[in-house]
Amino acid sequence: MAKIIIIGNEKGGSGKTTTAMHLIISLLKLGFKVGSIDIDSRQKSLTRYIENRAKTLALRGDNSLAMPQHVCVNKVEGVALESAIEQEEKAFNEAMQNLSGNDFIIVDTPGSDSALSRKAHSIADMVITPINDSFIDLDLIGIVDAQNFDQAKPGIYSAMLWEQKMKRAATKSDALDWVVVRNRLSTLDAINKRNVENALARLSKRFGFRVVPGFSDRVIFKELFLNGLTLHDANAAKEIKLNTSVVAARQELRNFITALNIPEINEKLEQESMVKKRA
Ligand SMILES: Nc1ncnc2c1ncn2[C@@H]1O[C@H](COP(=O)(O)OP(=O)(O)OP(=O)(O)O)[C@@H](O)[C@H]1O
Ligand SMILES: [Mg+2]
Repeated sequence: MAKIIIIGNEKGGSGKTTTAMHLIISLLKLGFKVGSIDIDSRQKSLTRYIENRAKTLALRGDNSLAMPQHVCVNKVEGVALESAIEQEEKAFNEAMQNLSGNDFIIVDTPGSDSALSRKAHSIADMVITPINDSFIDLDLIGIVDAQNFDQAKPGIYSAMLWEQKMKRAATKSDALDWVVVRNRLSTLDAINKRNVENALARLSKRFGFRVVPGFSDRVIFKELFLNGLTLHDANAAKEIKLNTSVVAARQELRNFITALNIPEINEKLEQESMVKKRA
């Protein structure tokens, strides 16, 4: 059965699509079969990212870029809201069914609440939540104030996730693995970085997530989208200049993927590093 990984956070611009694309290509590079679903039907950023990749591939005229099996669940408009929700959910279920032969299905969700996003969270094996390194982003996970840290109330996103966990319990016996990843980490802002890190450590116990190594703020992430490329494609891509920042970013990506702690992935990563050592 395909492992379902939902990339979610109701905060816009936290890095969901960037993380989704890098996870998809990382898994493909490791030899897994990967399906991807875009349910951010307004922006369709993941779909656009994958289309850009297909265009680069067509221009190159070769087979040099691994591609996922991708489905975009389109927004249903011009009908009553209830009917739209029903039709979108039906399309999502069909997509899940069509992609079920893959090892992983990665779902990119919108930066806002929607019925479909809730549904997707309720069937997740793992939820990955990228957050920008700021207390404003943290507020969606846990509402804290400086004086009352340990009595944090659930933020809107963790409250939604809690509800979906309850629904999920009816069909899945294992616990949901909720992973928070800090994105766009600044190299300058050491005090804020430490404060957010401490806050996350305290919230993680209260709301049941774990924090994995994140990504620094790097220009390269903004440059990759247009050609549909990821850090993984940097070596062979004439479109990207390989510099020390790209190399460091790739190590961050590897640390992130390893910390997801998915046995099948870590087995492949180990095999890969053994092959590299021998070479
Ligand atoms: N580590 C990073 N360093 C620099 N820029 C980044 C990084 N991660 C993401 N970005 C940029 O931040 C912006 C938002 O990223 P992205 O679109 O992945 O977020 P999102 O959570 O999917 O947004 P939305 O909620 O609108 O769907 C984009 O311009 C992206 O290129
Ligand atoms: Mg997005």
